[in-house]
Amino acid sequence: MTMGSEDQNLPPHVLIFPLPIQGHVNSMLRLAELLCLAQLDITFIVSEFSHDRLLKHTTVASRFGIYPGFRFQNISDGLPDDHPRAGERVMDILSGTKNVTGPLFKQMMIEKNCFASATRRPVSCMIADGVLSFVGDFAEEKGISLIYFRTVAACSFWACFCIPELIEAGDIPVKGEGMDLLVKSVPGAEGFLRRRDLPGFCRVNDINESKLQVLKSETRQTPRAQAAILNTFEDLEGPILSQVRRYIPKLFTIGPSHSHLAARLEARNTKTTISSGSFWEEDRSCVAWLDSQPPKSVIYVSFGSITVVTREQLLEFWYGLVNSGQKFLWVMRPDSIKGKDGEDRIPAELEEGTKARGYMVGWAPQEEVLNHRAIGGFLTHSGWNSTLESIVTGVPMICWPYFADQMINSRFVSEIWKIGLDMKDTCDRVTIENMVRDLMVVRKDEFLKRADEMARLAKKAVSEGGSSYHHLDGLVEFITSTVS
Ligand code: UDX
Repeated sequence: MTMGSEDQNLPPHVLIFPLPIQGHVNSMLRLAELLCLAQLDITFIVSEFSHDRLLKHTTVASRFGIYPGFRFQNISDGLPDDHPRAGERVMDILSGTKNVTGPLFKQMMIEKNCFASATRRPVSCMIADGVLSFVGDFAEEKGISLIYFRTVAACSFWACFCIPELIEAGDIPVKGEGMDLLVKSVPGAEGFLRRRDLPGFCRVNDINESKLQVLKSETRQTPRAQAAILNTFEDLEGPILSQVRRYIPKLFTIGPSHSHLAARLEARNTKTTISSGSFWEEDRSCVAWLDSQPPKSVIYVSFGSITVVTREQLLEFWYGLVNSGQKFLWVMRPDSIKGKDGEDRIPAELEEGTKARGYMVGWAPQEEVLNHRAIGGFLTHSGWNSTLESIVTGVPMICWPYFADQMINSRFVSEIWKIGLDMKDTCDRVTIENMVRDLMVVRKDEFLKRADEMARLAKKAVSEGGSSYHHLDGLVEFITSTVS
């Protein structure tokens, strides 16, 4: 690629490319702002659909407008705007991005000379979502440095990385649903699944290949990159990270990315609140409702941006919450109920009955909610951003994993970090009632104590001198070294 400008004083130019879905865009936008603070030039590739939602529901335009080196670059995700980007249909984005966005991306990079201009160097480093292998193809073809950002936990990444060996060894698919996976130490799978390092606590559903297909297919190609980034921290996943580093030595752990950004902005006495990355309108009325609730008395219920539930499951959750006697704040995302011909609407008895026991919104300012003194627990689908946000705020969790990495995340929350309960794949009102009461009343002090300790470690990691703080500085140094 020819240089756009010979001015050696121009900063390194980094391209950042997330899979265009809420959970991936969120964490990679935080990374982008962290790199803006390091005075790097950033071109952030985002689908037209996602960019429209961000511009409509957040302050990203003004937020990133304060960084002269930052640019959004729109690209098509290959799907019509009315395509349902939730539930299993979200997988269409992965194939659409691969088959439509991939060729468009290559054409754009060539036509725009890697976004070089009189005031910007050509891109010398590409930080791509780890599921976008076509970016790796282009980087290799053009000799541009490549860093993969995996938006999942190290434990989930490692579980997927080990799947081929586990299949070869006949460990999966394990016969008999629900049977605990008796895991042998398998070449390449050690460190995650070897019983003596971590209890062989996986269930067949945790690393059931079909449920993790979305992550397995691209995970094995991660080592082709010169480096990788994980949104996690050393004190949370140390044993796993040492295994991953055997295959990816240059691995930067910079998480939790949202609290890392807040810490760096605070250190600069920058008072601006961090813009959310929400694709939906946040209903802030729930904050006033929380203000009127006693401390640690409310369980927050949210299943992220992709999970969809049936009407039956919805009612099981509702009756379980009501029968638990705990107040609840429930996010009922507009497209989150499976069904048609009215079946996809919130049941009337649920909407009416909630008024006396809780509060319902379509989308909440989640980081602010989890930080609120009234919140004592989080019933979550175990998406990695939600899990990290709960860890940072010291809020214990009840995990109801839906797909992809969430099964492994939920197992680590309950079995390794012991900061919550794993509902696994059950969904009945008695289990829900008992778990809510267990978390919020019976074992409240036990869970809060452990959650507070993990929150302390997360805060230490992103503070000056902490592991994530150090890794981010190392990442900036690595990026700077890519400028020829
Ligand atoms: C997806 C995958 O489902 C998840 O498994 C993977 O780890 C990341 O990509 P998603 O399902 O959206 O993510 O869940 P999650 O990772 O928790 O991200 C959701 C984001 O939306 C969080 O940052 C959360 O703060 C935000 N959110 C959620 C809101 O701002 N308001 C809400 O009401 C609910």
